[in-house]
Amino acid sequence: MKNIDSFSHTRGESVYLDDIPLLRGTLFAACYDSPVAHGKLLHLDTSEAEKQKGVIRVLTHRDITGINQIGGIIPDEPLFADDHVHFCGMPLALVLAETDEAARHAVKKIKAEIEPLPVITDPRVAAAHNELIIPPRTFRIGDSAAAFGQCAHVFEGRCDNNGQEHLYIETQGAYAVPQEQGMIRVYSSTQGPTAVQRAISKVTGLPMHQIEVDVTRLGGGFGGKEDQANTWAALCALGAHLTRRPVKYSLHRMEDMRMTGKRHPYSSDFKIGLDKDLKIIAFETTAYQNAGAAADLSPAVMERTLFHCTNTYYIPNVTATAFSCRTHLPPNTAFRGFGGPQGMFIIESAIARAADELGVPAWEIQQRNLLKTGDEFPYGQKVDSEAIECWDKAFREFDMPALQEKVRAFNAGHTYHKKGIAVMPICFGISFTNTLMNQARSLVHVYTDGSVVVSTGAVEMGQGVNTKMLQVAARVFSIDPARIRVNSTNTYRIANTSPSAASATADLNGKATYIACMAILERMKAVAAGLLGVQPADIFIRDEWVYIRDTKTELHWNQLVITTHNQRVSLSEHGHYSTPDIYFDKTKEKGHPFAYHVFGTSITEVTVDCIRGTYEIDGVHILHDAGSSMNPLIDRGQIEGGLVQGIGWMTMEEIVYDAQGKLRSNALSTYKVPDIYSVPKVINLSFLHTEKDNPAIFRSKAVGEPPLMYGIGVYFALRNAIRQFNPAVKPAFDAPMTPEKVLMNLYGKIPGAAAAVTDRLTAVAAN
Ligand code: MTE
Ligand code: HPA
Ligand code: MOS
Repeated sequence: MKNIDSFSHTRGESVYLDDIPLLRGTLFAACYDSPVAHGKLLHLDTSEAEKQKGVIRVLTHRDITGINQIGGIIPDEPLFADDHVHFCGMPLALVLAETDEAARHAVKKIKAEIEPLPVITDPRVAAAHNELIIPPRTFRIGDSAAAFGQCAHVFEGRCDNNGQEHLYIETQGAYAVPQEQGMIRVYSSTQGPTAVQRAISKVTGLPMHQIEVDVTRLGGGFGGKEDQANTWAALCALGAHLTRRPVKYSLHRMEDMRMTGKRHPYSSDFKIGLDKDLKIIAFETTAYQNAGAAADLSPAVMERTLFHCTNTYYIPNVTATAFSCRTHLPPNTAFRGFGGPQGMFIIESAIARAADELGVPAWEIQQRNLLKTGDEFPYGQKVDSEAIECWDKAFREFDMPALQEKVRAFNAGHTYHKKGIAVMPICFGISFTNTLMNQARSLVHVYTDGSVVVSTGAVEMGQGVNTKMLQVAARVFSIDPARIRVNSTNTYRIANTSPSAASATADLNGKATYIACMAILERMKAVAAGLLGVQPADIFIRDEWVYIRDTKTELHWNQLVITTHNQRVSLSEHGHYSTPDIYFDKTKEKGHPFAYHVFGTSITEVTVDCIRGTYEIDGVHILHDAGSSMNPLIDRGQIEGGLVQGIGWMTMEEIVYDAQGKLRSNALSTYKVPDIYSVPKVINLSFLHTEKDNPAIFRSKAVGEPPLMYGIGVYFALRNAIRQFNPAVKPAFDAPMTPEKVLMNLYGKIPGAAAAVTDRLTAVAAN
């Protein structure tokens, strides 16, 4: 089934926040944000701004009717700065004006006097000053210190990864409309309608039942709107609450880039020990997470880094410690993979380091250490593994020996161009790591004309979850999908939702929808059984017709619906689902946090231009564990999109803050994301299809985040190509691998190597 949004998307008819027709009297908001990363706010002068034409009011922390606090996990984040500023981009004031232009013009008239304080942007420096968001955590299995003594080979190193802009096509925004009796309806571009409702409740002081949050769809979230949509919705709602006029704020791209948090950069140390057969016996890592100025979701992201720092390998002795470090940058937040990719980059760097030193391809180490069913993760869960199946099938289907031979022959025949190849196996845990978030609800109504409406807590952000919800209802009722509508996500229909995140949205909301539909179906079957004089267990609905076991009757879905209603039997149900059998004990750092894991293997080929440092991705070949995919088209879209987003993070997307904490890569001219010219020339995708029982909806495994991590393979393929040109170089593990870094690695890093290579190039040129 095609994504149900594809028609309206292609025709430009899909409605996003900025497409909602505005009511007369709507005010436009614009934010005055801190130009200084850390300082004491001595004076804030909004008087000039207030005098500007069209300006109705300027809000600061003094206007807050509830509490000045929007922190989710830890209450450490004021909505408006009060006496101190903690990052460039922190809101100080909000102008409300009759037009967007007037609001933005007035913002420029606001003056802040700020006494600068020392700025920290580096997580290791923050840790040295004990600037931590939460105490460090350590995951442990076996005894790594003792085990290193038994290793034939021990290597140490360091790796760094940069952040990443979410760059959703639709920027952050909200539209708050006052209703009667003090209520407010808020349209928000958020992954977490309940989080928005809660933040507004805190800031305005209104009870949650006074606040309706409604979301039709997002033009992308990628984690950036899991928590950070709250700010803009709270600002608009506060404005609407105070003025009793509708308030709209839709961020300009540069405001969005400047004021919102991103993926977390990490800087990590590692130590890896192997036996003579390349089995990884011991692994240690200390990871420093750059959290930014407030907690936001950083503690949860840090936890997932620990969960995934052994990726898809069984390692019997592990000690992994992570620090969440407070710096003077915008609070970093959820981003597809949620700390998992950063954890995987550490172990993959350690393996690459060992491979460099031992003179073997990294895949020989990777392959020998893949998880087998029953192996235990450092966090205590035993795995139901598809790692070896995916790896073997990838090598077979994409003919790894032939790919290797192709690369070898190319490299033997070329001086200025070199190819590299790398394998990236992945393993990603599905469930919110915070067990209590693994619940969802669905409200299903069957109308008397036989049409159906489904409302859930799921937010459609391009990932196709609405299509999957519709498929669940269509499959349970066995009716034409055209009869079913998926409603907007609304806090009055579905309460206390978890955000659409953790790749678990379709599982959680799909199972709740399944439960609701099954309950209605059971009641309808009882009515049909009464009508036909048989037992309910003998009633089936197939393609809209009622069957008595295998015999088709004259009773159609439409008639059965009417009859059910006429017998005063409910055609509505509210289904609730919570993931069974998951738990985690933080005092022991052990448990069973994930419902299941998703596996896969990618093989990446790249070609580096060794004169220019530029490169092309020749192909990425992916073997992905989908379980029994309920929508292979949508899943393919998620895999291709995730891959390219991961490639961007690992290769070209480079966030630059200066020492004063100012974002330099603050526009699309200075921050490069993959475009059609930089994507892989070929993406081959093959599913590992399994019929095994698993807790996913219709055994169709979650797909949103895991494929991003295939992109890590490109980093290591580039590194391998560089070493084909200049074997003396051991490039630092410092992502992204931009063309500039490739060039420096090709020539400059190792003393003497540059001269040797120049000599070589001169000699080749002379010939
Ligand atoms: N795909 C699109 N097109 N747009 C998005 O914003 N977000 C990703 C992923 N795929 C995203 C996307 C992230 S971060 C997550 S957690 C999942 O989708 C969320 O949706 P799911 O739980 O339904 O997979
Ligand atoms: N993934 C994504 N979002 C989350 C998680 C998680 O594990 N926990 C809390 N928010
Ligand atoms: Mo996704 S980072 O869990 O929104």
